[in-house]
Amino acid sequence: MSFNFEKRVAIVTGGSKGIGASICEHLSANGAKVYSLSRSIPENGNSNVTYKQCDVSNFEDVQTIISEIHKEAGSIDILVNNAGVTKDNLIMRMNEKDWDTVIDINLKSAFNTAKAVARIMMGQRKGKIINIGSIVGTTGNAGQSNYSASKAGLVGFTKSLAKELATRNILVNLIAPGYVMTEMTEKLDEDQLKAFLDNIPMKRGASGEEIAKVVGFFASDDSNYVTGQVLHVDGGLAM
Ligand SMILES: NC(=O)c1ccc[n+]([C@@H]2O[C@H](COP(=O)([O-])OP(=O)(O)OC[C@H]3O[C@@H](n4cnc5c(N)ncnc54)[C@H](O)[C@@H]3O)[C@@H](O)[C@H]2O)c1
Repeated sequence: MSFNFEKRVAIVTGGSKGIGASICEHLSANGAKVYSLSRSIPENGNSNVTYKQCDVSNFEDVQTIISEIHKEAGSIDILVNNAGVTKDNLIMRMNEKDWDTVIDINLKSAFNTAKAVARIMMGQRKGKIINIGSIVGTTGNAGQSNYSASKAGLVGFTKSLAKELATRNILVNLIAPGYVMTEMTEKLDEDQLKAFLDNIPMKRGASGEEIAKVVGFFASDDSNYVTGQVLHVDGGLAM
C-alpha cells in the first residue's frame, strides 16, 4: 500500500535506527516532511529526514523542540511515539533505576510528546497519533516486568487519549509488534531466538518496513474512522 503524505508534517521519536528509521523512510518516501527526535543523530541518516537530538523522557526539552518544529514546519499532522529501550531482568535483580529508565523513555515520553502536539492538532482539528507498543504489553514476559508495564501503560494511554481527542478529529492508535529484526532483538542469543521464532505461527520475525507500512495506514486518510485500537503486527504470535 502506498499513501500520499504530501504537505503532512510527521514527528517520529527514535527515528535514528531500527523500526523508527523504517517509519521515517516510509513516511518521507510517500511525501511527508519528517522530523526524527532521538538521543543521537545518525551519521548516515536519511537525507529527507530532519534529525533533532532530544531525550524524549525530558518533558521540557520535548516541549521546546516540538514548538520549534511547529514554528518551522507550520503544522504537525502525524506523531509516532516509537522510541523505546529494554533493561531486562527478573524482578529479584531489577534495580529501581532500570525500572524508572524504561518507564520514563517508553511511557512518559508519549505523554511528553502528546502533550506538546495535542494543542497544535486541536487547533488544526486534525491529527494522527500512533504509539508503538509491544505484544508483551498484552501477554507479559518473564524478565521484562518494566518493559511490559511500560507497553501496557501505552495501551491505556492510547485509549484514554483516543476518547479525549476524538471530537477534535485527532485519532490515536497503537501498533504492537512481536519480533522485529533490529538492534533491540539482536541481544537475544541463538537458543532464545530459535525458541522465539518457533512460537510465531509465521516462523519469522518482521522487518522494520513491515511495521512502518502499518504505521502508514494509521497515519493515512484510509483510517479516518479508526481510533483507540491496538493492532498486533506479529505474524500471529499473540491471538
Ligand atoms: N525490535 C522488536 O522486536 C520490537 C518488538 C516490539 C516492540 N518494539 C518497539 O519498537 C520501538 C523501536 O524499537 P527498535 O527495535 O527499533 O529499537 P532500537 O534500539 O533499534 O531503536 C530505538 C530508538 O529509540 C531511540 N531512543 C532510545 N531512548 C531514547 C530517548 N531517551 N530519547 C530519544 N530517543 C531514544 C534510539 O535513539 C533509537 O533511535 C520500541 O518502542 C520498541 O519497544 C520493538
